[in-house]
Amino acid sequence: MKNTNHQLPLPPGNFGLPFLGETIAFLRDPDFVTKRQKKYGNVFKTNLFGLPTIMMLGADANRFIFSQENQNFVIKWIDSALVLLGSASLVTQTGTTHQKRRKLLSQAFQPRALASYLPSMVEISNLYLQRWEKMGQLTWYPEIRNYTFDVACKLLVGTDVNNDTHFAELFEEWCNGLLTLPIRLPGTKFSKALKAREKLLAKIEDIIRQRQQQPSSGQDVLGLLLNAKDEDGSNLSIEELKDQLLTLLFAGHETLTSALTSFCLLLAQNPEILAAAREEQEQIGCEGELTSETLQKMTYLDQVLKEVLRFIPPVGGGFRSVIQTCEFNGYSIPQGWSVMYQVVTTHQDQSIYKNPETFDPQRFSVDRAEDKSKPFSYVTFGGGVRECLGKEFAKLEMKIFAALLLRGYEWELVPGQNLDITMIPLAHPCDGLKVYFRPRV
Ligand code: HEM
Repeated sequence: MKNTNHQLPLPPGNFGLPFLGETIAFLRDPDFVTKRQKKYGNVFKTNLFGLPTIMMLGADANRFIFSQENQNFVIKWIDSALVLLGSASLVTQTGTTHQKRRKLLSQAFQPRALASYLPSMVEISNLYLQRWEKMGQLTWYPEIRNYTFDVACKLLVGTDVNNDTHFAELFEEWCNGLLTLPIRLPGTKFSKALKAREKLLAKIEDIIRQRQQQPSSGQDVLGLLLNAKDEDGSNLSIEELKDQLLTLLFAGHETLTSALTSFCLLLAQNPEILAAAREEQEQIGCEGELTSETLQKMTYLDQVLKEVLRFIPPVGGGFRSVIQTCEFNGYSIPQGWSVMYQVVTTHQDQSIYKNPETFDPQRFSVDRAEDKSKPFSYVTFGGGVRECLGKEFAKLEMKIFAALLLRGYEWELVPGQNLDITMIPLAHPCDGLKVYFRPRV
């Protein structure tokens, strides 16, 4: 709704320190939002990453933000992320360019393409499960990151990085710069990340050029994108392909690392739910091959995974720039400011979810379907025209990993570790989830 009445008040809140605003508290304090929600309500102002920002909490706010993309709001990345992701990345593109590119890239996430990724996902999952069995005790979060990165590299760019630790290290260095201040001084996280970006792009370019020599090889996202044409009949340029692939590699594994780690943690903490999920696998037949058909039968596992993503959403929220002054709940939302939607607070809203602080997969049973009470109540994957492009890829990989784990293995939390969840860079247990890991007897 356009605001013609400029007398409307700004939301309550505090801008904090000059320049830094409340950025440090936002990055460090896991209760940053809830503390302010208690004090100010569901709409409040703050200052983050150098910009006045309005936090908008709850399903109605999500609907408002997601349905006004390109009208009142446009995607906003903090400066460091914008530079590191690159101007040709889908996540930084806007308007009709974004629309066209999204259509083109979505070809790689259609059901037929997804079905073709299944065997590789199973193969790499089994490889890692066997590796962890040999280790016996491990810190799971970094191990799961290696696993999701291997899957992403294999299925997105057709490369086995199993032995290329340098590629994974460069990627980690690049990721470390995403949520920092963009200070280009030697030794800063941002400078290191910029160097890593150059090296990563050079490696990706090598991969693309090799593939251009053998265009028909491999069933993966790069193969599809090399052949994909936009509405004008043109292919993606190498420069754009490099940014798009870097983005997909990032989006396609960091989020999943968080999601799978949370699955392992929450099932270890809820043995009765683990037993029920295992019972479903036994009914389907633990020895049987994993196919699209068998996966479809795992309806309880679907509920468990959905609840994992509600309970500990990997991505806490997203920023948008206000491109036109508008009004929400009687407050002015001024042009030039940022707004942020919040996944965690939406998923903890008692008016949507019964006992939201309880891990309860049954809330997503057909009878209860708590997320259906209001639109935009379940926003793990965002919403609107920028909803996660890899949502089905993510769900498939999670399900394969979870099913194989439940079928063949047991895990137990090592005592005395810090299991609190930190949200930076994405949700994960502070000590990285230390477990004893063994085959089922
Ligand atoms: C966008 C979450 C997995 C690719 C998003 C957004 C969220 C999200 C919340 C929207 C951000 C915003 O509104 O600003 C997740 C979660 C995942 C996951 C929780 C795993 C559990 C993946 C995977 C891929 C992927 C596996 C690719 C292989 C993307 C892309 C976008 C996106 C390309 C940008 C879409 C656009 O701007 O049009 N994701 N994601 N994601 N995600 Fe995911």
